[in-house]
Amino acid sequence: MIHRLLAVLSLAFLCGSAVNAEPFVQGGPIGSQTSDGYNALGPVVQQPIDFPHYRHAKDMGINCMYCHTGARRGYVSVIPREDKCIGCHQNIESVKDKPRIKKLFEYWDKKEPIPWKKVNDLPDFVRFNHERHIQRFYFRQDRPVREVCGYCHGDVANMTVDRRVKSLSMGWCVSCHEKDHKESVTNMKTSHGPNECWQCHK
Ligand code: HEC
Ligand code: HEC
Ligand code: HEC
Ligand code: HEC
Ligand code: HEC
Repeated sequence: MIHRLLAVLSLAFLCGSAVNAEPFVQGGPIGSQTSDGYNALGPVVQQPIDFPHYRHAKDMGINCMYCHTGARRGYVSVIPREDKCIGCHQNIESVKDKPRIKKLFEYWDKKEPIPWKKVNDLPDFVRFNHERHIQRFYFRQDRPVREVCGYCHGDVANMTVDRRVKSLSMGWCVSCHEKDHKESVTNMKTSHGPNECWQCHK
């Protein structure tokens, strides 16, 4: 019902404003369904610039780790710095005059970092390490990057402003760790993730 209501609303929006319309309008409050079919488990985060993931990661096919460079080698995935955006956008005439790109250049000219807000945020007493998961599922099992990030983030390549769509609760982490996971694409051995308290808690 809510989903249909949103679909109608976004249709009205599309007809009304034509050119700048985003096809993937995010759903409403926690528990409502986002228009890409997920149940939103986190609040709508108002970002300083609505960054269209779907245009970069899906339409242009840019690898998630081209921007989130930390995922393969560290605890945090890292949000790209402005110079990475500018490196491309100073040469892209087609969107140079769009309000969001103007805003991007305003931050750049003022030498201010864009104050992105966190979407996924575990409490400080939990230890989470991207590297171990990316090494296991992307490099050793050779799964596609969009699928691997999707285990914990949903299909971000279909989103505009990222929403939290996976639970990230203790039970949810533990239940994946209890499963058998192949150790690599080349051998049949499987093993679990660690479920001793100290592995996830400092
Ligand atoms: C061109 C650069 C770029 C690419 C490519 C990109 N991202 Fe992002 N990503 C960003 C920026 C900028 C933000 C911060 C704004 C936001 O949260 O929407 C972000 C935010 C995120 C977040 C939320 C971070 C938080 O605060 O919890 C996740 C999760 C994420 N990206 C996953 C992905 C995945 C998965 C892919 C590939 C399908 C991807 N990103 C591709 C630039 C990029
Ligand atoms: C096994 C689950 C899992 C996988 C797989 C995963 N993430 Fe995350 N990601 C998380 C969790 C949990 C957080 C929140 C961490 C925190 O608050 O300490 C997070 C946070 C982030 C953030 C915010 C910055 C940060 O690192 O705290 C970005 C960006 C992000 N992830 C991108 C990605 C990308 C891109 C991929 C795939 C290459 C990916 N993640 C794969 C669970 C995962
Ligand atoms: C690899 C090159 C590349 C990088 C890196 C890149 N972009 Fe883009 N971006 C593009 C292109 C090309 C378009 C236009 C796509 C189109 O016409 O659909 C675009 C479109 C956009 C739009 C939509 C503009 C509009 O209103 O139509 C926004 C907003 C945006 N980018 C922000 C960013 C931000 C913020 C970053 C850094 C986190 C970034 N981009 C990094 C190539 C890039
Ligand atoms: C898709 C399944 C999956 C999910 C979801 C998942 N993990 Fe894991 N995790 C694994 C596997 C498999 C390993 C073992 C990786 C290896 O060492 O090859 C692992 C390893 C770890 C490690 C050990 C890293 C180290 O430094 O030794 C920690 C800590 C961890 N996970 C925390 C978490 C937390 C916290 C969450 C929930 C926010 C989570 N994981 C969600 C599958 C998962
Ligand atoms: C695979 C990772 C993982 C393991 C193993 C794990 N935890 Fe947690 N734990 C978490 C995460 C993630 C949260 C945060 C949940 C949230 O924010 O909703 C958490 C939260 C908690 C909390 C706060 C209250 C709550 O339920 O949210 C306590 C207490 C706790 N864990 C104790 C333990 C104990 C004791 C063990 C060992 C029996 C353990 N944890 C093992 C990931 C783990």
